[in-house]
Amino acid sequence: MSFLKKTIPYSVRSLYNKVNWFKNHFTEINKFSELKSTHYNGPVTYDTDGLTTSNNCDFISEPRFAKAYKAAAGTKPWLGFTLQWRVYVVCWLADYVKNLGGDYVECGVNTGAYSRAIVDYINFNSLGKRFYLLDTFEGFPEWQISEAEYAAGIAMYGGDHYKDVYRRVVETFAGFPVEIIKGIVPDILVKCYSDSIAFLSIDMNAVAPEIAAAEFFWPKLVSGGVMVLDDYGFPRHINQKLAFDNFATQKGVNILCLPTGQGVLFKE
Ligand SMILES: C[S@@+](CC[C@H](N)C(=O)[O-])C[C@H]1O[C@@H](n2cnc3c(N)ncnc32)[C@H](O)[C@@H]1O
Repeated sequence: MSFLKKTIPYSVRSLYNKVNWFKNHFTEINKFSELKSTHYNGPVTYDTDGLTTSNNCDFISEPRFAKAYKAAAGTKPWLGFTLQWRVYVVCWLADYVKNLGGDYVECGVNTGAYSRAIVDYINFNSLGKRFYLLDTFEGFPEWQISEAEYAAGIAMYGGDHYKDVYRRVVETFAGFPVEIIKGIVPDILVKCYSDSIAFLSIDMNAVAPEIAAAEFFWPKLVSGGVMVLDDYGFPRHINQKLAFDNFATQKGVNILCLPTGQGVLFKE
């Protein structure tokens, strides 16, 4: 491609983006505003789910991941589901611990997008393990949130969110060694009979059930096993971060905070 063929569309797009940005933001500009140069190292490669980067994300089109992600999206958690990097992280971690003894658990399942991606990505049927999926499958119990969480905006997960998905989840996981445990965490934790866990995903959007699940499963997590916290780094979920920082201190481990917002702990 000639130099001009490359640069003209680039310059036009770049100018258009700048004018468009100014049009949308000029009311926010004040005497303290600064003009800063971009920190990107090339074209933006990922720009969704609170994360924008120019870094490599070829994983999105790797056939193994693309197939698993398609299966996740097929559960239709919501319109326009675009969480590739978070799904990639859970798939990668699930793969990393698959040769350890121990089952898999997800607390906070909704339509089962993460778990559906995982069973595909690591060929779960071949592992001789069980995958326990715990959820109300009828939505977020709003009464479980504290005043601080209410003030932070966590009540937005109530109402019509995550409703009536039980039948769909049963259909999605037919043919997989999956146990679907319906009810409210912490009440249903004792119905998860496995005493050896290699992978635990916690994604219930609220402190009380998440800490209860973490405390319940931590002694069952095998050495080298992983716990992944979906909401750890999200500003609205600051109370979960504070609670898990305290949890990690008590257990003598550190949480890896990822740019996706996820938090990761390994049991030593
Ligand atoms: C963000 S969604 C989970 C998304 C899921 N990880 C995925 O792969 O798409 C949060 C889920 O947590 C569930 N939940 C919240 N609090 C709960 C509780 N105390 N007991 C059981 N499920 C709960 C909600 O019903 C909802 O389905």
